[in-house]
Amino acid sequence: MWRIEQLIQDETGLHSGAIGSNSIARAIRARMKTVGLRKTEDYLDLVQSSPFERNELVESVVVTETWFFRDAPAFTAAATIVRDELIPTRLNRPARLLSLPCSSGEEPYSLAMAMLDAGVPASQFRILAADISSRSLARAQRGVFGRNSFRGKDLAFRDKYFRAVDREFALEPTVLSCVHFHQFNLLGEEISSLPGLFDIVFCRNLMIYFDLPTQKMALDRIGRFLAPGGALFVGPAEQPFVLEQGYVSAHIPMAFACRNPGHLGRIGEPRPVRSPQPDHPGKMQQPATRVPPARSIGTPARRSHSQAEAETAPTIAGELERARRLADEGKLAEASALCDRHLREKGASAQAYFLIALIRDAAGDSTATEFYRKAIYLDPNHYESLMHLALSLEKNGEKIRARTYRNRAQRLKPKP
Ligand SMILES: C[S@@+](CC[C@H](N)C(=O)[O-])C[C@H]1O[C@@H](n2cnc3c(N)ncnc32)[C@H](O)[C@@H]1O
Repeated sequence: MWRIEQLIQDETGLHSGAIGSNSIARAIRARMKTVGLRKTEDYLDLVQSSPFERNELVESVVVTETWFFRDAPAFTAAATIVRDELIPTRLNRPARLLSLPCSSGEEPYSLAMAMLDAGVPASQFRILAADISSRSLARAQRGVFGRNSFRGKDLAFRDKYFRAVDREFALEPTVLSCVHFHQFNLLGEEISSLPGLFDIVFCRNLMIYFDLPTQKMALDRIGRFLAPGGALFVGPAEQPFVLEQGYVSAHIPMAFACRNPGHLGRIGEPRPVRSPQPDHPGKMQQPATRVPPARSIGTPARRSHSQAEAETAPTIAGELERARRLADEGKLAEASALCDRHLREKGASAQAYFLIALIRDAAGDSTATEFYRKAIYLDPNHYESLMHLALSLEKNGEKIRARTYRNRAQRLKPKP
């Protein structure tokens, strides 16, 4: 089995430690049954010799979980960058956006809707959406989506851009035509098969499935097709790693947007971007108060990768959700007081300690690490606390201890 797992990793970057050896074994057994093979060695020979079978195996292993406006502020932030920075200042061509991986299309179509809602005409932007999975791309191109693709509280966009067809929803042609699809393996193919550089790259919820060397390789590749001054949007659990590799937070609350520091000052030097309102994609607020830290306050802490992928709604209590929003608005003292009250009244919780740690981190308070530790003590699988603690320790030069926490985080296995 391990040789097939290795082959999958060589082909896609997907690491059995992150995907889960059991899930991979199940996928292999299902493929062996389909092709009528009983011995693993025979199946290994087949996978090695047949590109078709390799492709089928990859299709059965990839985690394609996605939904419209996932981490919604990212979309409003991207539209704001295009409308307020790119178009007025330096583009005499349409803005170029890449969604990689795009899975079944919810992410790039959300980008297109956010652009249109922000008043950016379709002629002023181009979205390329890419993924290794040809099945996901086929679903994306069909443009018809089930209920599972709509998970936020605010579904006004569905009324605006979709038509109900039986129990599904068909996306209207104006949005469909904004996105072009392309099969692409981030780790396999020549970068040159992508057409040129992109002003904005969404690479979200893919690097969490890679081991550290592969994450570095992936980020290096992304850096090669991100235009000078471009913005990179990643998943909440990926941002600590990306910041650690030298990118800087764009300080757009809850958007997990980063800039390459070498390029700041082009699109880059962050200037007030109107803040998106979580769960209200497409709507813009008043000029933003920024979260002051080097790292933006993250989404609600997640107990593990697997839950993170499976959950459809934030898991933290309303009070902590309010505290997080206050923190995002830069009201750190109020946010902290709310967390303290929550702890007094409701007892110890990993979420509350994680939030306190983020708030202290945001204020540059070195006691933040104590609170990440408390969160981990209460929930040893608290992925974001593990990652943030690793990052803090690395910054303090405590590399060996940092590695221990990072390894623990990477051992958390997502369920596909
Ligand atoms: C969890 S989905 C993320 C989709 C979307 N970005 C989001 O955040 O909702 C991960 C996607 O990565 C794709 N994928 C896995 N390995 C890949 C690779 N090496 N190159 C490109 N896409 C890959 C899978 O096919 C899957 O559609």
